[in-house]
Amino acid sequence: MAQGSVKVIRRSRQGTPRTLAIDVGGTGIKAEVLDPDGKPLDERTRVRTPKNATPRKVTRIIAELANMHGAFERVSVGFPGVLKDGVVYSAPNLGKGWSSFTLERRLAKKLKVPVRVANDADVQGLGCVSGKGLELTITLGTGFGSTLFIDGRPIHLELAHHPFHKGKTYEDELGNRALKRKGRAKWQRLLREAIGELKKAFNYDRLYIGGGNARYIGFKLPSDTRVVGNEEGLLGGIALWRDHGSHEASE
Ligand code: BGC
Repeated sequence: MAQGSVKVIRRSRQGTPRTLAIDVGGTGIKAEVLDPDGKPLDERTRVRTPKNATPRKVTRIIAELANMHGAFERVSVGFPGVLKDGVVYSAPNLGKGWSSFTLERRLAKKLKVPVRVANDADVQGLGCVSGKGLELTITLGTGFGSTLFIDGRPIHLELAHHPFHKGKTYEDELGNRALKRKGRAKWQRLLREAIGELKKAFNYDRLYIGGGNARYIGFKLPSDTRVVGNEEGLLGGIALWRDHGSHEASE
């Protein structure tokens, strides 16, 4: 074999395993291929989340997105609902038919590579927490995601559907529908109040705020709180493969 081709082979192996990181959201399903350090290897693609986003429609879109990207050896999925061992239990902002859907197994079969799925706020947090002490991640998008991390280990929360304000839940008051209905000023006042409540309830060391609507925060955040960007969230797609006692489905 010519020396040149040996070099090429070595170089192409260095960047593996490549991860196709998918984020299933209430308004869009996004995908990007990352190198082992979480650096994007190509352009992010996005397909609008269809109305009544059933398991069939969503898995079909994920397969389409996978086809639009270059090679990858594994897939990570952040999903907007409760999951255990790769099985979905709820998806309040998607369509019908998700309860007990074996998402991880189905995707591994369709995509023919190992797949790990986790709640979207868990994935976002895994990408940005320091791994020290008590850290809370919330995400502001269609829904309200929340995950607590103890020395880097995620404990999934569903604050979204808990009472927060005047009998309304966190998601009723801070989800995308609330932002549209109430306007930015009111939404920000409520968010500031929610941050105060969360601090009292969890006494976290650090709070991270992700999700598309975090960009509308226009007030000064406490010193233990910061907004995290999409790119940091993507790193969670890599962190999912570190061992947290999680499992994976392969074909
Ligand atoms: C769901 C959570 C999810 C959040 C953000 C909520 O409605 O119950 O599981 O993390 O939305 O997508």
